[in-house]
Amino acid sequence: MEFDLKGRTAFITGASRGIGRSIAVAFAAHGVNLGLFGRDVERCEKVAADLRAQYAALRIAVIPLDLEKGTVAIKPAVAAAVKALGSVDILVNCAGGAYRGRLADIPDELWESYFAVKPLGLIRMTRETMPYLKKSTQGRVIHISGTRGREPHGVQVMSGPINLGTLSITKAMANEFGPAGITVNAIAPGSTDTGRWTELVKVAARDRGISEQEAEKQLVADVPMGRVVKPEDVADLAVFLASARAGMITGTAINVDGGRTRGI
Ligand SMILES: NC(=O)c1ccc[n+]([C@@H]2O[C@H](COP(=O)([O-])OP(=O)(O)OC[C@H]3O[C@@H](n4cnc5c(N)ncnc54)[C@H](OP(=O)(O)O)[C@@H]3O)[C@@H](O)[C@H]2O)c1
Repeated sequence: MEFDLKGRTAFITGASRGIGRSIAVAFAAHGVNLGLFGRDVERCEKVAADLRAQYAALRIAVIPLDLEKGTVAIKPAVAAAVKALGSVDILVNCAGGAYRGRLADIPDELWESYFAVKPLGLIRMTRETMPYLKKSTQGRVIHISGTRGREPHGVQVMSGPINLGTLSITKAMANEFGPAGITVNAIAPGSTDTGRWTELVKVAARDRGISEQEAEKQLVADVPMGRVVKPEDVADLAVFLASARAGMITGTAINVDGGRTRGI
């Protein structure tokens, strides 16, 4: 399938590692120029260096950004990326995560700090990028949400509202920006093999009093497709949603979870 992405430009938050990095790698393979936004600049520069070595013709800019700092940091970061790359067609809001714990374990400061990144950071990022996206002939916004937005979990209590808020704003943004020709969608990964998976396996092993190997086996047994989601599985869907092929898909959220989520 031809995705018609060559020469387009994507801004990706959370590009330093995990899913965001994989999306950057997949986009680069399709000839997409990249604005890699990250708090850990050194790690982002390493991602950029690896991609430049492989795809010399691509324009790749690393843009330092701590989303927790809010609009005052986001606005100039977006402007700097547009200055470096000239335009933007695709915005991928991937940065984020959620503190793992029960309600009583999570003080205000942690709620506020995680919410500042997702969903608040992605709301601000989209708002500040929108004037530039509106100039594109194929504007795309992709939010990385999470299946816990649809299926809340007792020991991952924070994942619920963070990801549900992301799903809801996706639909509202799709309604608002459809008339400008811009699609807005969310991808909801299940447990994915990034640093967060390693942490999940450790916690499960500790809570269940079993080895990490056994904990991993039990967690995977819960996935109908029989394996953990890989960051590349999420990146493949991001490529499709960014492409011309997905022009009539907007305001929706697609799980990439190997079927683990209960319910429809
Ligand atoms: N892995 C999973 O199982 C899973 C499941 C469902 C949803 N998700 C979602 O997928 C997205 C990526 O997750 P991941 O597993 O790839 O996570 P990860 O490996 O922990 O990476 C998180 C990314 O977010 C960035 N980030 C965090 N706080 C930031 C801030 N204040 N400002 C700017 N960037 C910040 C990190 O940058 P630094 O390198 O600077 O820290 C990093 O690039 C997240 O939104 C997460 O909620 C993941």
